[in-house]
Amino acid sequence: MRLAFAAALVALTALGTGCGTEGLPTEGNATRGKQVFTSAEGQCAACHVLADAGSKGKVGPSLDDAFAGAREEGFKESTIAATVLDQIYYPTEGSGMPAKLVEGEDAEAVAAYVADVAGDPEAIKAAAAKKPTGKGGKADGKSIFASAGCATCHTLAAAGSKGNIGPNLDEARPSVDKAIKRVTQGKGAMPAFKGQLTDAEIRAVAEFVSRSARK
Ligand code: HEC
Ligand code: HEC
Repeated sequence: MRLAFAAALVALTALGTGCGTEGLPTEGNATRGKQVFTSAEGQCAACHVLADAGSKGKVGPSLDDAFAGAREEGFKESTIAATVLDQIYYPTEGSGMPAKLVEGEDAEAVAAYVADVAGDPEAIKAAAAKKPTGKGGKADGKSIFASAGCATCHTLAAAGSKGNIGPNLDEARPSVDKAIKRVTQGKGAMPAFKGQLTDAEIRAVAEFVSRSARK
């Protein structure tokens, strides 16, 4: 992670000499950024862990882990944001991160947001204390669907989600058993959630999907 960060910094320094510092994202609207992070356009939440966003994607590296070191060493937020922006536009080819999921202001906003919260010990502590369950400690399938990143890859009307990396669940109408199997084991581009979600949470989200897709 350190190495990747250092390499990105070198790339940025090279970039910076060409166009001056004006192009670097020191502004960016972090509130908008959080929306972009979890949106169907940004899809960041589907692939990355980020405590502040409540996201648990496992396809890419944890962004908390990736930037905790830089934050601790006192790198400026604007520097971290520039690294994230660079990654959005120019991810390592063939690495599994699609280029330019978002561009322009949305890209700057999400970069500023990630720089603001990634590796923040407070956010990590708060997320660890907060179980992904509904009120009263009962696993709530709908909120798990949102926080586990399902929404970023799947369309499901009952969840208000429009992701299109995976099949449209309103059309697929999976049985509870099939949904439990997919969520537990993953398949193709879908990561396995075993270990990330408890068995009760997997059952709850599977029941939510199966029940609401059949309406
Ligand atoms: C389909 C999965 C996927 C999506 C969607 C995705 N990423 Fe990534 N991301 C990856 C992978 C895989 C890597 C590792 C790339 C590599 O090894 O070079 C990565 C790397 C990164 C890194 C570098 C982390 C490091 O260790 O230095 C950042 C920052 C990042 N992504 C931010 C984002 C943001 C912001 C978004 C949303 C706009 C996003 N990603 C969307 C898969 C994804
Ligand atoms: C990174 C994207 C991604 C994420 C995140 C994701 N899925 Fe999937 N999902 C897919 C893909 C792709 C498939 C198709 C797998 C195949 O059959 O090859 C799939 C398949 C499924 C299926 C089977 C649909 C059918 O009937 O064929 C269900 C059910 C499902 N996902 C539910 C979920 C739930 C619930 C979550 C969250 C806990 C989730 N998915 C998270 C991408 C994703």
